[in-house]
Amino acid sequence: MNSKTFVVTGASGAIGAEVCKVLLQDGHSVIMACRNLEKGERILDSIVDNKDQADLIMLMELDMSSFDSVRNFAEKLKQGNLYIDGLVNNAGTLQRHFSLTKDALETTIQVNYISVFLLNKLLMPLLNENAAIVNVVSIAKNASKLNKSFFETNDKDFSQTGNYLLSKTALTIHTASMAEHTKGKYRVNAVDPGIVDSNIITMNRWFDPLANLVFRPFTKTPKSGAKPVLNAIFSTQSGQLFVGKKHKAISDKYKQHSLTEWLWNETEEIVKFA
Ligand SMILES: NC(=O)c1ccc[n+]([C@@H]2O[C@H](COP(=O)([O-])OP(=O)(O)OC[C@H]3O[C@@H](n4cnc5c(N)ncnc54)[C@H](OP(=O)(O)O)[C@@H]3O)[C@@H](O)[C@H]2O)c1
Repeated sequence: MNSKTFVVTGASGAIGAEVCKVLLQDGHSVIMACRNLEKGERILDSIVDNKDQADLIMLMELDMSSFDSVRNFAEKLKQGNLYIDGLVNNAGTLQRHFSLTKDALETTIQVNYISVFLLNKLLMPLLNENAAIVNVVSIAKNASKLNKSFFETNDKDFSQTGNYLLSKTALTIHTASMAEHTKGKYRVNAVDPGIVDSNIITMNRWFDPLANLVFRPFTKTPKSGAKPVLNAIFSTQSGQLFVGKKHKAISDKYKQHSLTEWLWNETEEIVKFA
């Protein structure tokens, strides 16, 4: 088998851990990128089956709410002369309340979108030819809600699901742009895992216990949520959206979004000064 090297962000989460487990079982090397190393260590222990697998997996710190952390992570990979066949941008957050990161950006938007843009940019020189970049998104009904105040959310405008969906809309637009820019060189795809039984679907509201009883039993298992991610990693195509067992080209509402160029340039400016 042709063994490859993958970076998985949010590897301590439900879907991320499952993706790492399958990659490892298939004999690939995996870098688990986690913000909480203690939790990451526990998850690593739970997915490693034997000494051979233990030799293939490595845990590294990466906090997507900090540009410094993203830069340190990329710098360490560079110093280690590590080349990558796949980057799985799986880390994600659904913040209950408005908060600013130490980079003075709204947390959900920085973690789910801006830091992914930065990480993709910094790791580009470390990608092997034909490498896969997989961005885990969540498809919103109304992508047109993205507007030019996207980066300026304040306490008053903040909405828990609103900001989450906007951040994932931006990430889907970014996936389509990257696929276009890197045509023939890398495979860049988006994945919507569906509603999966994990921490992120806890809304941190009064109705959580009821939702856990009524709604959670009907969600997908992390194993099932990881499948489209794995399909995207090994797909020969680019610019696709993977959902369930299927995939199709990312729709024109993202590919030809009126703010595509604006979004790219603005994000570039933000990360330039990071
Ligand atoms: N579950 C769903 O229904 C669903 C639906 C659509 C899309 N998604 C997307 O799927 C991806 C994986 O989510 P999941 O369902 O597996 O949820 P999860 O179990 O809560 O995993 C989320 C992962 O992201 C990590 N994370 C959160 N904030 C971070 C930060 N600042 N820096 C680095 N890592 C951070 C978490 O770290 P900790 O372990 O330290 O908390 C965890 O590893 C996310 O991008 C999510 O938006 C999920």
